[in-house]
Amino acid sequence: MSTGHPDLDALLPRLDSVSTLGAAELEAEEIAVLGRKSGSLTAALKRVATLPVEERKRFGAAVNRLKAQFEAAFAARRDVLDAERTARDQAGLDLTMPGRGRWVGAEHPVTKVVREIVDIFRGIGFTVAVGPEVETEWYNFLALNFPADHPAMDMHDTLYLDAPPAEGESAGRLLLRTHTSPVQIRTLMESPPPVRVVIPGMVYRNDAFDPSHSPAFSQIEGLAVDEGISFVDLKATLIHFAHRFFGPATKTRFRPSFFPFTEPSAEMDVECQLCHGAGCPACKGTGWMEILGCGMVHPSVLENCNVDAERYTGWAFGMGPHRIAMLRYGIPDIRLLLEGDMRFLERVAGTAR
Ligand code: DAH
Repeated sequence: MSTGHPDLDALLPRLDSVSTLGAAELEAEEIAVLGRKSGSLTAALKRVATLPVEERKRFGAAVNRLKAQFEAAFAARRDVLDAERTARDQAGLDLTMPGRGRWVGAEHPVTKVVREIVDIFRGIGFTVAVGPEVETEWYNFLALNFPADHPAMDMHDTLYLDAPPAEGESAGRLLLRTHTSPVQIRTLMESPPPVRVVIPGMVYRNDAFDPSHSPAFSQIEGLAVDEGISFVDLKATLIHFAHRFFGPATKTRFRPSFFPFTEPSAEMDVECQLCHGAGCPACKGTGWMEILGCGMVHPSVLENCNVDAERYTGWAFGMGPHRIAMLRYGIPDIRLLLEGDMRFLERVAGTAR
């Protein structure tokens, strides 16, 4: 389409694009075309009066026709934009609001540590077992070679239940297990050696809830019983574990210790994960962090489970995933791992928005 006037034709592409303008652009374009002072068509209209009569008629008619077309196009576009805005308002949609981030879940740091530890042992032929959190004195202490009324039982600060055990007098009182070691007994009584098993679970002690103690925390027990098993198997397996879990160059050391259910007994340290051996407040300047207790299964424990201690030997360990998560992530207060504060958990998991 042509107006027959080249300077008016120059405005035709702008007439076509009115239907694509946004609200602010529409307002600016109306002023640019029809504005009283400097609108392009206003200027053309002013020129009409200066033309010779014949031309004045033709040009004047063309300018007025174009002006009417622009006015109609602007009005139509305004109607469309108004209708769109009303529809958005009715839908409660405000396109100027900032976007809402998607909520991303992640494993709890302790769950992640437990899974990684269990996976490492599964990779070398261990199976996974679980046991009850309500135990009897027999499983939790006596079968594990704790002498009755020995102070070693006090050191666990046991939480006892009022109800009598279903198993009868000889089982002793009911209690919340103070460690996962009673599942060693349950495992050996259920399935004779060879046994290679890891046992994750919660344990309970009558402890304060402070930065380094909690009345409830996790443990992972390990047990390997077979013919010809020695302390060499214990060390090699636990060093393999430390290298897989903390990194291939991680230094380890074993210190003599005491547990009623192992002989000899040891504690295993890994180099401090925060200062890498240099010494820092977290490792109290030693450069080492204790991660587990271990030892050769005491022959009395095997016999309490009706396992022939002449034929079979074994080793065991117990470690605390809550403590290990604290060492690994440099978390100074165990309560942070138990309280469920999402601000802390999202930061550790890297899912903070
Ligand atoms: N049950 C011990 C505790 O809670 C940890 C432990 C030490 C477990 C040595 C073991 C072991 O199996 O051999 O303190």
